Amino acid sequence: MTNPWALGDYHEFATEMVWGFGPELVTACTIGGGQRVLDVATGSGNVALRAAETGADVVALDITPENLEAGRTEADRRGLAIDWVEGDAQDLPFDDGEFDVVTSSAGAMFAPDQEAVAGELVRVCRPGGTIGMINFTPEGLAAELFALFGAPTTPTLWGSEERVRELFGDRVSTLVMDRRVLVERHADGPEGYVAFYKRTFGPVVAAYAAASDPAALDRDFHDFARRASRGSPAEYHYEYLLVTASVRGDAPGT
Ligand SMILES: C[S@@+](CC[C@H](N)C(=O)[O-])C[C@H]1O[C@@H](n2cnc3c(N)ncnc32)[C@H](O)[C@@H]1O
Repeated sequence: MTNPWALGDYHEFATEMVWGFGPELVTACTIGGGQRVLDVATGSGNVALRAAETGADVVALDITPENLEAGRTEADRRGLAIDWVEGDAQDLPFDDGEFDVVTSSAGAMFAPDQEAVAGELVRVCRPGGTIGMINFTPEGLAAELFALFGAPTTPTLWGSEERVRELFGDRVSTLVMDRRVLVERHADGPEGYVAFYKRTFGPVVAAYAAASDPAALDRDFHDFARRASRGSPAEYHYEYLLVTASVRGDAPGT
């Protein structure tokens, strides 16, 4: 089966719609020079590129080689050295405690085994290190969009405070969670928004290719885009949870 994330043009999608997530996680995790950082499900390097720009030593991992290739091109353009690694968030190819900071923006949430992902993010982060995630919420517009395309909405459970607490359990000592809103806009109105998603966003490209009635799917997507727009010409508010956690240290009281 084709990997849906390899379809469309993820880098174009990301730079147009979610490019603010990278700097947001870099700031939230106070990433800087001298730190060793892992960005999980990096896509084309949204967080990884920005972390490398601070002088951090960055490894960027994703399951989709096409996205890593786009990231490598972007890193070359910016004169940044990043280690691009193909791999699965559920089974990270790294040693215990290798990283000072482990990030994932709208990425690791898509791996099906959430317990495995939580375990791996904690395992590869050193005691006292930081995990930072951006996850769309189950109550927000992303869950509605996923449902429209027949995709599971379970990834958005990573956007529930209760579920995140359960997933990390007592392996983290501090857990800060903040609900925020991503605004996606399109200059050509809802029609332009739909066309942009159909051309660039892999899971949507895959859903159209697999649809038994693509015309019906198209009607539903246009209805969604007209109904959900909150501004002119087109504006969509996607709620997400910004998560930062400290991995429990060895020292008493940490
Ligand atoms: C919405 S994109 C987010 C990419 C990037 N973090 C960003 O903010 O632009 C989701 C990414 O998760 C990756 N992904 C999905 N499942 C994965 C898994 N099990 N392990 C690693 N990466 C995965 C996809 O290949 C895709 O690049």
